Amino acid sequence: MTYLNELLNQTLVDIEESGIRKIANLAFDMTDVVNLSLGQPDFPSPSYINAAGIQAIQDNKIGYTSNNGLKELRESASEYIQKLYGLSYNPQQEVLVTIGASEALDLAFRTILSPGTEVIIPAPSYPGYEPLIRLCEAVPVFIDTSKTGFKLTASLINEHITDKTRCIVFPYPSNPIGTVLSKEEIQEIGQLLKDKDIFIVSDEIYSELVYEDQHYSIAAYPGLKEKSIVINGLSKSHSMTGWRIGFTFAPAYITKQMHKLHSYNVVCATSISQYAAIEALKHGTQHKEVVEMKNEYNKRRDYVYQRLVDMGLEVVYPKGAFYIFPSIKKFGLSSEEFSINLLNAAKVAVTPGNAFTEYGEGYIRLSYASSMEELEKGMDRLEQFVAALSSVNI
Ligand SMILES: Cc1ncc(COP(=O)(O)O)c(C=O)c1O
Repeated sequence: MTYLNELLNQTLVDIEESGIRKIANLAFDMTDVVNLSLGQPDFPSPSYINAAGIQAIQDNKIGYTSNNGLKELRESASEYIQKLYGLSYNPQQEVLVTIGASEALDLAFRTILSPGTEVIIPAPSYPGYEPLIRLCEAVPVFIDTSKTGFKLTASLINEHITDKTRCIVFPYPSNPIGTVLSKEEIQEIGQLLKDKDIFIVSDEIYSELVYEDQHYSIAAYPGLKEKSIVINGLSKSHSMTGWRIGFTFAPAYITKQMHKLHSYNVVCATSISQYAAIEALKHGTQHKEVVEMKNEYNKRRDYVYQRLVDMGLEVVYPKGAFYIFPSIKKFGLSSEEFSINLLNAAKVAVTPGNAFTEYGEGYIRLSYASSMEELEKGMDRLEQFVAALSSVNI
């Protein structure tokens, strides 16, 4: 048996389970836990989207669709990002409907990476990228962004580019920090990249959860569309995580290759979800139910931020997504020790920063995609826990 185990794909064997789930799984076995560890919106999917899904089943729309997704959905997706971000993609050749942003990321990396190539990733980073990159036998190169307000900059990129650099992951608004780059900051990076033979994988899954500014896509910078794969989806903006609908927007020569992978791997995204997604995009992000969700996140963000500041924790004010990433360095515990103690002593589940690479050590991630009531309870408990730790540390 040991021998057979050694015959498995060792790259896969060496990949660890996501650190995001470690604390969450412990919390699932306990009662009365305030769980702030997962990026799962607490709202139901909007009612008109649910109704469209139910209607699709009743109308027996349960067969395979075309591999790249229903024509009407690709057209709606193309109009949606044209209207919101000024991006122009041909729905016949440049858009794919995928199984969430997760499949879209996998398609992107497998299409552009070959063994030994390097991928620049700003860190702390969403843990979904590294395993997919390693499975391509490519090498993630993490850039520590903690000294630049958790923002990727043109000079940081420049310092890390080698002749093996094949791709840059551009993950804004960011999970786990909630940082957003301004149009000017993105333009500076665009200026650097426009003449380089480096692809950009722009993960924009949180693009509609930007609270003050307008989202600006790096692919809108002149000259970058040809080398960019824009990833988006409905999981976060429309509280549709379980429907599993994502998109890739990329030039035809890239989409053609991703299309093959997608066809062999999953055939197509779920038909019922695709019909529901058409309805979601028909209303865009203007529908009352979607607007209310965003307003609520905004309120919660301010509430949680203020509570953390009042507890004396150092924290960056998040501009997007629904996460916040306070420093716990002053307590002298590792992020994992802090999170486990917090769970056991105060019954609050958070994600240790080291789940987001070594550069997340010394921080914890809290998700505010929980009801205000839960957040209040969670913050009260955290406050007590922090106060007790502080008195021990004095
Ligand atoms: C940054 C980021 N990208 C991609 C995904 C995956 O999204 P989906 O659920 O649409 O696959 C997530 C999910 O949490 C995420 O946080």
